[in-house]
Amino acid sequence: MLAELALRALTPAAPMARKLGLLREGIALWSRGRRQRKAWEPHQARCRAIIAEVAAALPRRRKAVALGSGPVRDIPLEALCASFEQVVLVDIVHLPLLRLKLWRQAKVSLLSRDLTGTMAWLAGEADGRQDPLADLANDDSVDLVVSANLLSQLAWPVADWLEDNPARAAALPDNLPARCIAWHLADLARFKGYVCLISDVEMVERDRAGTIHDRLDLMYGVELPKEDESWLWPVAPFGEAERDREYVHKVCAWRRFGRS
Ligand SMILES: C[S@@+](CC[C@H](N)C(=O)[O-])C[C@H]1O[C@@H](n2cnc3c(N)ncnc32)[C@H](O)[C@@H]1O
Repeated sequence: MLAELALRALTPAAPMARKLGLLREGIALWSRGRRQRKAWEPHQARCRAIIAEVAAALPRRRKAVALGSGPVRDIPLEALCASFEQVVLVDIVHLPLLRLKLWRQAKVSLLSRDLTGTMAWLAGEADGRQDPLADLANDDSVDLVVSANLLSQLAWPVADWLEDNPARAAALPDNLPARCIAWHLADLARFKGYVCLISDVEMVERDRAGTIHDRLDLMYGVELPKEDESWLWPVAPFGEAERDREYVHKVCAWRRFGRS
């Protein structure tokens, strides 16, 4: 708890990122990942293995870009640093713990970006979406883009914020959370390099008898192509969120998103 408070005070974050709860969520994710290290490891190891395999098969390895890098538990950072000339980690929030861990990694740079491109719009400071990847999508040296468990996270903070700010919501398109997901997919499709997309797409709430109490489409109805593979990630095993409920996410991976 104290560590979380200290992290909240020490982590730089834009005002809208704080208002959307993304700093709080980034710190909570870090803590939850430590508590659930054992339950999450198979999911994280599989993500890392897929990304490492995709990277190893590329014809060129100049720049790798990881979107939604967070605490870098799903991303095989060492393997990327060993084989690429540059690695760019992009997230709305980079915790000081990560900065500390990376300070000697000369190949790694951190970019703080709102990958929905909507925060200035939500705040009433812009008339529409701002392109969050204009520079990187036009950078011909980007040979690999990884979107790692980010896609589902782009929609719900916006949905929650709109619910809490009905006056502002009335002036904005009503399907903004779904659009955030669709925009990210379109952003990925703009890269000339290879794109590896990994995302949780559905949440299931179950009791100890295995009865399903809720099922949530994390994609807000946005259609995705058939995935290459999928698995289950016990995001909140029994006792994490509630004593007698577990929350399990279905995760899908597209090794070469946008290419047949
Ligand atoms: C589930 S975590 C990803 C975990 C990470 N890939 C790893 O290797 O540990 C989702 C990440 O998406 C980031 N995120 C959420 N909304 C964002 C936004 N609008 N722009 C950029 N990053 C965002 C969060 O800060 C968080 O780090």
